[in-house]
Amino acid sequence: MTDSTFTPRVFSGIKPSGGLTLGNYLGAIKRWVDMQDGETETIYCAVDLHAITVWQDPAGLKAGTREIAAGMLASGIDPEKSILFNQSQVPEHTQLAWIFNCVARLGWMNRMTQFKDKAGKNAEKASLGLYAYPSLMAADILLYHATHVPVGEDQKQHVELTRDIANKFNNDFGVDFFPVTEPVIEGPGTRVMNLRDGTKKMSKSGESDMERINMLDDADTIAKKFKKAKTDPDGIPETFDGLNGRPEAKNLVDIYSGLADISAEAVVAEYAGAGWGKFKPALADLAVAKLAPISDEMKRLMDDPAEIDRKLARGAERAREIATPILDKTYDIVGLLR
Ligand code: AMP
Ligand code: TRP
Repeated sequence: MTDSTFTPRVFSGIKPSGGLTLGNYLGAIKRWVDMQDGETETIYCAVDLHAITVWQDPAGLKAGTREIAAGMLASGIDPEKSILFNQSQVPEHTQLAWIFNCVARLGWMNRMTQFKDKAGKNAEKASLGLYAYPSLMAADILLYHATHVPVGEDQKQHVELTRDIANKFNNDFGVDFFPVTEPVIEGPGTRVMNLRDGTKKMSKSGESDMERINMLDDADTIAKKFKKAKTDPDGIPETFDGLNGRPEAKNLVDIYSGLADISAEAVVAEYAGAGWGKFKPALADLAVAKLAPISDEMKRLMDDPAEIDRKLARGAERAREIATPILDKTYDIVGLLR
């Protein structure tokens, strides 16, 4: 953190736009769980308003939001230790986002690679919300004066934009009001790749289900997906450097490393020289051992949607206690009469 006057606080979010993947787990949720046990306050959010920047079926969005919440709870997010809620229950996010829309510059938004990827060739048909999305993300973070944001590698540029917005706001109004947030991108799981193409990120919305592991996949499906995962003819190399230029092989080693909580170097040392016929079943067994208890608990929680809703509503109340005074102060700084 660049300014010691801000108390450390962690915020992160995940979109309910499809089921949770192993990428979400290793890149985000697993690390969020680790962070909630320290001194720092932790706030985790199902960002439903981000999800609707592309079309969401209304019933699917409700179910998806509950699934994300169940996934976080089942993975070990403890609503006593962390604040857990869904974004749309705290309207201050959108209020602050509007102010940031007036701070962020078009030139900054035009550089956002995620927008370019998602809008594709048909950018004229993308929603205005998809374009403004990073400004809402900055509002999510800064509404809580969050100093640290644990995310996967793909979100780095958005956190940098958040820093630019905080700096410009502070400069424009001559205040030291918003912290300059640090992205926290650490560990082997910050970029889990597609199982069919090691140059693309594993995502909820990729075309084929074979390219990702879903948190709710059963043991047979997980084994089948790893068995069919693309690899090269060489197995696990003798040394870690032997993974250079082999994205698919490196991805499987990284996944093993993230799940086992050991370094990728240690994985290579343990399996040096092994063929895929040995490594892939070991990886599948490890994944099932780690994910099955989580998915069983997710299913149990999802059987009682009212209880999930109650937890989210309680989290939203607690979030608003932090958010309201920060938004009020922002309005005062900007000169909006209240
Ligand atoms: P999303 O599913 O896009 O809302 O992402 C939620 C969180 O999961 C963000 O912190 C992402 O960076 C992280 N994440 C999503 N996919 C991956 C992946 N394939 N590898 C690592 N992290 C990921
Ligand atoms: N944009 C993030 C993603 O696609 C989700 C997100 C929204 C987020 N608001 C956030 C992540 C605030 C961290 C902090 O993954």
